Amino acid sequence: MDETALFSQLDTIIAKYDNSKERLIQILLDLQKSSEQNYLSEECLEYVAEKLNLKESQVYEVATFYSMLNHKPKGRYVIEICDSAPCHVCGSQKVIDILEELLGIKIGETTADGMFTLHQVSCFGACEISPAIKIDNKVYGNITKEKLESVIRILKYIGGNERGKNIEIDF
Ligand code: FES
Repeated sequence: MDETALFSQLDTIIAKYDNSKERLIQILLDLQKSSEQNYLSEECLEYVAEKLNLKESQVYEVATFYSMLNHKPKGRYVIEICDSAPCHVCGSQKVIDILEELLGIKIGETTADGMFTLHQVSCFGACEISPAIKIDNKVYGNITKEKLESVIRILKYIGGNERGKNIEIDF
């Protein structure tokens, strides 16, 4: 995306929140969602600071405080696997092993095509459907090998087009 298109996209998102500095987190989340590489670039953060009349350091502080905000490029789909006790007991390590094998990467890595990033995270409140994962902040539970194979196949298929972003899959 060239600079003009990027700034125009930033303006649209910031305007959606009435250029309000109180909505900074929502603005940053939306900006991240709209980014091809799922992260907030320095250029983007500086622009937000200028538009909201905030110090750059204030925007950086928020962008680096919240774990759901990325300041380094990630895959188009960020897959988070819960490994807290209830999910662990229900087989989260197996989920990790299967995903690592399906994608050919380890936890913390991104596939060479930029499509998937794997993260191990703590409980996100879906313990009753353990083992659970999140893909782009949507929760999927009672995960099995078949479900993982299916979701990865679907995401690989649709991931190459624009509609593939922020999609919710029904198992
Ligand atoms: S322990 Fe995994 S979501 Fe709560």
